[in-house]
Amino acid sequence: MKNSLYVGNETGRPNSNELPAELNLTDFLYEAIDTSAFINVKNWAQFFDAIPVDPYIPDGYRYKSIAWFRIKHIKAAAIDGIDDHIAAINKLSGMSDEESKRYLSSGKPHWVSEETGYCCWNLPQYAMQQSIKYNPVHGDMRREYPRISSGITESADFHKLLIHYASFFGWSDAIVLVQFQRVDCFTSRTGLPAVEGFHQDGNRHVGMLVVNRNNITDDSGVSQYVMDDSGKKTDELIFNSVIPPGQLIYWNDKRVWHYGTKIEVADGNVNNGRGVRDIILLSAKTPPGNMPMGPVPIKDKK
Ligand SMILES: [Fe+2]
Repeated sequence: MKNSLYVGNETGRPNSNELPAELNLTDFLYEAIDTSAFINVKNWAQFFDAIPVDPYIPDGYRYKSIAWFRIKHIKAAAIDGIDDHIAAINKLSGMSDEESKRYLSSGKPHWVSEETGYCCWNLPQYAMQQSIKYNPVHGDMRREYPRISSGITESADFHKLLIHYASFFGWSDAIVLVQFQRVDCFTSRTGLPAVEGFHQDGNRHVGMLVVNRNNITDDSGVSQYVMDDSGKKTDELIFNSVIPPGQLIYWNDKRVWHYGTKIEVADGNVNNGRGVRDIILLSAKTPPGNMPMGPVPIKDKK
């Protein structure tokens, strides 16, 4: 298990002087990393209490906030499709050209990791609009979510997490969707971490960091993976474990299908009979792959 801050991959650590080497995904299935050496996730558990309920889950057991970023290496040429996509969604949002330019690779990054050479732009609060191909429950529906607290997104630990993700896979340029997600349960109702069952999300790779498991049974909220076979799910579990708080797992979304089993309350007399599981999902988007960005809901536009 790796626990260094800037992992890099088998071809070396990213740095400011040269283009990073991208991880070869051909043989990569998943890898778990203990983040306790560089992130204190205990500081983040409190922020999940403030996330409002996800209005798109009728049973009300999920809470979600999101944020979009663009993370490009300083030595990399911008991928045109990324600038084009950001500009197009900004236009659909009614944003002026001048404002839109601030979010393109020609604009000034919000922060730069001097050590790895990765530059980050905070993108507007785009909606999520997944293709129906990847999400039969919510595909093609535009979903608006509140932004992750700036207390998190402006923190050094959060920047380390984004840099860890970029460094592990060694990409040159990508849009990153970050989702903070809580699922809760009560003695009278369980909670479902993956509404759609075993699935893929149309990404190349995904990261999941477990922040908190509170008052849920040890054998609930289990992460499971099965192999993909030419676009079809197979049956044999290749991973079937509870990921504890502080663990980050990266997986290859093309080669495996993922699922999280339902969560159940451990002790009905604790925490008012409520159990929660809090996670952070990281997914990098590069065209022509799935780019599930919907226009910014500008509510105060005349
Ligand atoms: Fe998923």
